[in-house]
Amino acid sequence: MENRCNNTNMLHDNVVKGYKSGDSYNNHRPDYTEETTKFVLNKLNLETEGTYDVLELGAGTGLFTRRFLHYDTSNLKVIATDPLENFLEKLKLLSPDVETLQCSAESIPLPDCSVKNVVCVQCFHWFANKTALKEIHRVMVPHGRLVFLWNTRDVTDASKITYDISNYIQTSVIKDTPTQLKETWIGIFEDFNGFSPIQEHWFLQHFKHSGSVDFIISYLKSLSYISKLEQSEQDNVESKFREIINNHPDTKKGGIIDILFNTEIYWCQKL
Ligand SMILES: C[S@@+](CC[C@H](N)C(=O)[O-])C[C@H]1O[C@@H](n2cnc3c(N)ncnc32)[C@H](O)[C@@H]1O
Repeated sequence: MENRCNNTNMLHDNVVKGYKSGDSYNNHRPDYTEETTKFVLNKLNLETEGTYDVLELGAGTGLFTRRFLHYDTSNLKVIATDPLENFLEKLKLLSPDVETLQCSAESIPLPDCSVKNVVCVQCFHWFANKTALKEIHRVMVPHGRLVFLWNTRDVTDASKITYDISNYIQTSVIKDTPTQLKETWIGIFEDFNGFSPIQEHWFLQHFKHSGSVDFIISYLKSLSYISKLEQSEQDNVESKFREIINNHPDTKKGGIIDILFNTEIYWCQKL
């Protein structure tokens, strides 16, 4: 595995401090549904010429990579990348056959026009900047596709525990962390001119991430803006989560807690 990311200075502080445990991340984060994975597969342009069919950026521990490889992709040349060694090590452990490369989106050690499709799952917000977009554009072949997506908590129903938890995160925890919100990243495409207009598809109230109170707390603690906090601050945030859960009519008796998710998928084509 080549290492092109010894310098973590270019990464956001929350990435460096928050993603310390590949195990914790991998064991508690929501997965990707069959509909999502098939949707992404259908958006790829595999008709062009290029060394790699799919370059996955920010592949992390490989949650999406494994879903993707589960389908009929054995004929595809896939390369999974991430800047964090501990995450990529976990990916390698779980998917030893996948080619990997340690790199950030801002510096991809692949030749110009070598990649047919770039896929970014739950990570585009970390590198929504002109340097990364230029780099992604450079490695892609003309008419190649850039596909990026997020699982996002569904907060449309204020009576649900998902709303109360997300509302607390939004108002008291998240602060200045980059997020998947479209208005925070769409601007980088506006005067770039190298891609077709962004298209999007939302799977609304798409799936539930479910588990015991402790499992859901572990999921919440795997969010970078929480896991990067000092232990005492993390403890305070955890207490507040437990208080919210203990006070909500759906969850105060314990049992299985359901966190409701949408999946938002965006794509465009290199011009
Ligand atoms: C929320 S995780 C998503 C991981 C994986 N794609 C998944 O779906 O589970 C975000 C990932 O983005 C990666 N990341 C952060 N900054 C990055 C950058 N500048 N370039 C590429 N990847 C980055 C992190 O290392 C992390 O693995």
